Amino acid sequence: MASDDQKRRAAEAALAYVPEGCVLGVGTGSTVNHFIAALGRRRQPIAAAVSSSEASTRLLKAAGIDVIELNTAGDLEVYVDGADEATRHLQLIKGGGGALTREKIVAAASRRFVCIIDASKLVDVLGRFPLPVEVVPMARSYVARQLVRLGGQPVLREGGATDNGNVILDVHNLRIVDPKTLETEINQIAGVVANGLFARRGADLLLVGRDSGVETLTA
Ligand code: 5RP
Repeated sequence: MASDDQKRRAAEAALAYVPEGCVLGVGTGSTVNHFIAALGRRRQPIAAAVSSSEASTRLLKAAGIDVIELNTAGDLEVYVDGADEATRHLQLIKGGGGALTREKIVAAASRRFVCIIDASKLVDVLGRFPLPVEVVPMARSYVARQLVRLGGQPVLREGGATDNGNVILDVHNLRIVDPKTLETEINQIAGVVANGLFARRGADLLLVGRDSGVETLTA
């Protein structure tokens, strides 16, 4: 069972990895919302944030934090984000909040990815959480057929377009025995913008909020 206290604990622990005055990458989701709140309260300010979603941008600005474009920021020192599932090898499924493409871009541009989760997200094998795949709308049916060939059951996510104007297919029942290979395979389907496997560029540090404290896992 996900616990809000565990999320908050992991989020607050991530502050220790955020240097004062840095330009910081910030992800999306309820765990990150705790992180943004803690960042806003902190006495050592950051220079600015690069945000992975419109939702996080609104919260960052409300917390008094400047938000700048990745194109002007260049490479980032640190990226802090949550995940839907994580292994002890620091490979992830992300995209439950629909921000996977921008999250993947900001993670790729960052030297260190600090991932914050509650204990319910830690798994031995990825795939119980349906894998989100962001797709150009005109390719939806074609991509869905290819995902069925890979053994999955894609379901169109309700609730409108992503921040990039695309749709998301949530792929159920994939057997993710080799996350890196599957990540590449899905990326090669024409019409796929990004998929929620963060295996080729996983996290560098995983902070797992527990009732008793925070467990730190490194790559
Ligand atoms: C958004 C994400 C989130 O990091 C992921 O869905 C976890 O969310 P939460 O912290 O609310 O459990 O990938 O696209």
